[in-house]
Amino acid sequence: MHQVVTAVDGALKVLGIETSCDETAAAVVVRAADGTGRILSNVVRAQWEKHRPFGGVVPELAARAHVECLDDIVREAMLTAGLTFPQLDGIAVTAGPGLIGGLMVGVVTAETLALLNQTPLIAVNHLEAHALTVGLTEGLKPAYLLLLVSGGHTQLLAVHDVGRYTRLGSTIDDALGEAFDKTAKLLGLGAPGGPAVERAAATGKTGRFELPRPMHGRPEPNFSFSGLKNAIRLAAQAAAPVSDQDIADLCADFQAAVAGSVADRVRKAFVLAEAAFGAGAPKRLVVAGGVAANQALRASLSSVAAEAGYALHVPPVALCGDNGAMIAWAGAERLARGLVDPPGIVARARWPLDADAKAVLGKGRLGAKA
Ligand code: KG4
Ligand code: ZN
Repeated sequence: MHQVVTAVDGALKVLGIETSCDETAAAVVVRAADGTGRILSNVVRAQWEKHRPFGGVVPELAARAHVECLDDIVREAMLTAGLTFPQLDGIAVTAGPGLIGGLMVGVVTAETLALLNQTPLIAVNHLEAHALTVGLTEGLKPAYLLLLVSGGHTQLLAVHDVGRYTRLGSTIDDALGEAFDKTAKLLGLGAPGGPAVERAAATGKTGRFELPRPMHGRPEPNFSFSGLKNAIRLAAQAAAPVSDQDIADLCADFQAAVAGSVADRVRKAFVLAEAAFGAGAPKRLVVAGGVAANQALRASLSSVAAEAGYALHVPPVALCGDNGAMIAWAGAERLARGLVDPPGIVARARWPLDADAKAVLGKGRLGAKA
């Protein structure tokens, strides 16, 4: 294992590489000795054009696209940061969860760079990177309650510390981002679906379509979105042929149903979080992952948090979706604690943050990022 040698001022400069899904990303961040962070560069290249004809992410195409551009993206991140490889204190790479071909591209690249430059290597869990982003953007450190909402995950977690998580709730079927993407596809909107639904909803009115609020009132803070997706399909069929206004109204009602359901689930999680952290702990709700960019969801969570005396923390929109800065930052947080990895990192399609959490239903989801 490499010896961790910090710069004279205790600052750590870390390169982060992200290739777990359909974004190729690299970034350099610096973590000061006082634990605060700064982004020196953050380069993200989305692959949507390559996947659009197939209506979803094709794993093999994603892996090839990462191979084609990762070297350029890393070079650009280093140039923008104004650093050479020997000046880095660590190289962090997403090792899971995600699409295995893409993960391997990132891992091989990071290991090669680390070996050539004798730089410590850090294998980062993509979900941990989302979970810790608020540490980079606003210096917020655990403990806090986390709502993680992305294309592959929908979970509520007690974040005790870096590397220490308790899952309080999870989806029993689709992830929230997946529900946005499938709704967009059903309504003939472009990809990625989340932003497309949000744009369409902006000109829609709520209250026209009666949609379910999944799991409403259930005591455990779990989620379900497949019934809602089905209800949207039935409502769209009943309104066919749909006009642009119908689509806008459907999207507005979909977002309202999502926001209502998530708010109800988060309210239930507050009780569990207080038990997990103790009654006197600061009440903090963090929202992370691609869907955290959604303004309707943010607004709903903002009132739920205020109602319960919680402070709401959400990264800026540009850092909600997948990016290299969050990987570099999670790597820097681990490096500062001496948590480095020997060469031979194994890419993992599944890698839960809470290894002890039991499946919510049956064997649980077996999807790429579950
Ligand atoms: O975190 P992320 O970039 O990738 C994963 O780790 O999965 O999340 C991607 C998901 C996609 O499902 C995308 O449609 C959704 O986040 N998303 C949004 C918005 N922006 C991205 N969903 C709702 N509203 C948005 N503005
Ligand atoms: Zn993500």
